[in-house]
Parts: sequence; structure tokens; C-alpha cells
Amino acid sequence: MGTPKPKIACVVGTRPEAIKMAPVVAELRRFSDQVETKLVSTGQHREMLAQALGAFGLEPDIDLAIMQHGQTLAEVTARALAGIDRVIETEKPAFVIAQGDTTTTFCAALAAFYRQAPFAHVEAGLRTETIDNPFPEEFNRRAATLVTRLHFPPTAWARDNLLRERVAPGDIHVTGNTGIDAVLAVAEREPEAWDFGGRRLIVLTTHRRENWGEPQHNIARAARRLLEAHPDSVLVVAMHRNPTVRDVLHAELDHPRAQLIEPPDYGRFVKLMQAATLILTDSGGVQEEAPAFGVPVLVLRTTTERPEGVEAGTAKLVGTDEEAVFAEGDRLLRDPAAHAAMAKAASPYGDGQAAARIRYVLLSRLGVDTAAVPMWEA
Ligand code: UD1
Repeated sequence: MGTPKPKIACVVGTRPEAIKMAPVVAELRRFSDQVETKLVSTGQHREMLAQALGAFGLEPDIDLAIMQHGQTLAEVTARALAGIDRVIETEKPAFVIAQGDTTTTFCAALAAFYRQAPFAHVEAGLRTETIDNPFPEEFNRRAATLVTRLHFPPTAWARDNLLRERVAPGDIHVTGNTGIDAVLAVAEREPEAWDFGGRRLIVLTTHRRENWGEPQHNIARAARRLLEAHPDSVLVVAMHRNPTVRDVLHAELDHPRAQLIEPPDYGRFVKLMQAATLILTDSGGVQEEAPAFGVPVLVLRTTTERPEGVEAGTAKLVGTDEEAVFAEGDRLLRDPAAHAAMAKAASPYGDGQAAARIRYVLLSRLGVDTAAVPMWEA
């Protein structure tokens, strides 16, 4: 008998983590002779997680199934932390990996730290100036950084944030965002899924906690005014399962050219983004994905931890004021030059090779020699 293979535990809990971790899991599994990869789900999201993993043909090896309706942040935290702790105790992974800034991510990092298992952080180094915006994500990612051994920032900007927090340069590797790996792979393989009869498509997604209540009403009203001002447009709202969010959207967007749809599977959603003339969103992932297709994005937030798109001119931070959202959307639908200026098909977030870079660095740390990939320079 040889030495046992090292084990890597990839922890996910919500839809965006599933999408952004899927390329990493697939890449690590190409080396299954050298390393064993376990996909661990907290189940923070029940249906949306299974749906997103399904788009990549993945199923969790271990499912902690913690989701409860109306779950509070403390309850999610307590259940996820205890569950991941048991997994680390039993599986004894050589590395625990998680992505981004959800409660699942924070709990994976903390559980690994308590058990002194090395933690690797995918999409490390995103920051805003304020600890409670986005809430609670800004706290989650900063806390994860404190206990991370290997940091995988997507861009040079994210790397610089880590360096400012005195993270050792040798532990940081700029990879590009694994979300770009995912979106490019899916866009290529999926057939066209939508037909709006030649009308221009506006896509809206909104779910963030900072926007619950009045901001979400404002956003929905602005979207409705855009529809009314542009009779050649249709609005598709890809809803989140969170009931707090859905009630507002249903109340404000009863209109013949508005379609409020259940969370589409990832392939259909990617095709929806590709077909759009304009995207309004408060999602971080959508902000990254849309520039890969050259679709202008209006970001419905007052801060963003993804300034690269704003700097590149493909995204604009408009906040949640009804008049501001309407005015900026109206301008882009009315003025072809303004639209063309934002519609550049180039992503500052990655080139589709992020997962291969992560695999190379991670396995090298474990003493497993695999083909090198040059790091991402943007
Ligand atoms: C979570 C993340 C957020 C991420 C978002 C992406 C935290 C604190 N928040 O927010 O960072 O941007 O996911 O979607 O980690 N629900 C279902 N089925 C599902 C998913 C959700 O019924 O598949 C309902 C449940 O009632 C649940 C509620 O949605 O209580 C909210 O889910 P929760 O995980 O608490 O927060 P999100 O708002 O989804």
C-alpha cells in the first residue's frame, strides 16, 4: 500500500458558490489519481443549490441539509459551523476550500481554523469600505481572510487589498474569477432558449439584504417605468426564492410586458443575459458575467467590491433611487451611442483559466506535481 491520497474538501452552500466552485471541482477531479476531491454542501440553499450544481453534472458527496425557511443568520451560522466541523473531523482533509463571502464560506473558514486544517479561499480580497455593506458579506470575507493559508484573488485589485491587510505575498495567487470559467463553458454548450419576438430585453435580478424593503420597491418601480417608456421592450425578472424579495416584485411589476419567472437554471439564465439589451442587478456574479457578453449592467447598489467593470466602462453604479435607476436605464435604451460605449465584449474578471491556476497552486502546495498555468495579469 502506498501513502493515501490527500483529500480536498470543497464546501458550497448557495447558488453562486455552486457555480463558481464547479469549475474547481471539475478541474481537481481530472487529477483523481493523485488527489481525492469531496464536494460538501451545507445546503444553505436547498433548491437553488441543487439546481446550480446540476447544471454542471455535480452532486454533493456530503449534504448537511441545514436550510430552514425564514432562517436567521445566527441559525445558519450555528448549523453550518457544527456540520462542517464534523466533516473535517471525519474526513481529515489536507485542504478545505470555499468561495466568496456567504455565511457558508465564513463557517468553512472558521471550522477549518478551529480544527487547524489549512483553508484556501477562492475569490479572495474583494472589499468595500464598510463592514455592513454588503451585509453580512463584507464581514464574512474579511473574517475568512484572517484564517486563510492560500488566497486566490480574481484580479490585481483584489490582490492589492490583501497586501494592504498584510497577507504574505507568497500565499497570494491571482487567478481570474472562476465564474468566468463557468459562464464561458455554459454559454458555449447551451442552445438558444429565449424568443421575445424582436423586442428589446431588459433583465432584472435583485435579492440583497441591504436592498430589502424600500430600495427594492424603488428598483421595481423604476423597471416598470422603463417598460412604459419603451413599448418595444420586455422585462424579465429572474426571481430569487427568498420570499421577502418575491412579495415586493409581485406587488410592483404586474404589467403585460413583465415576466416574473422562477429561478431559471443556470444554462437558461446565461442565455437570458446574452440576449439582453440591458441588465439591472444587485448580484455580484451577474456584474462579472455580463461584461463577458458585452451587455451593459446597471448595478443597483451604493457600493461595489467589483470596481473593475465600472473602471472598464461596462458597468455603472446607480444605487437604488427610483429616479436615478430610471434615468440611467432610459438613457441607455434611448441613445445608441451611450449603449455602444458600455457594450464592450471584454471581461476584466478572467479568461476562463482560473480553475486550472487554482488546481496548479493547490496541488503544488500538497506536493503533487501538475502542469503549470501562467497567472492572470489583469
Ligand atoms: C445568500 C447569501 C448571499 C448570496 C445569495 C445568493 C448569506 C448570508 N447570504 O442570500 O451572500 O448573494 O445567497 O443567492 O450567506 N430559499 C429557499 N430555497 C433556496 C434558497 C433560498 O427556499 O434554494 C429561501 C429560504 O426561505 C431562505 C431564504 O430563501 O430562508 C433566504 O436564504 P439565505 O441563505 O438566508 O439568504 P439569501 O438571501 O439567499
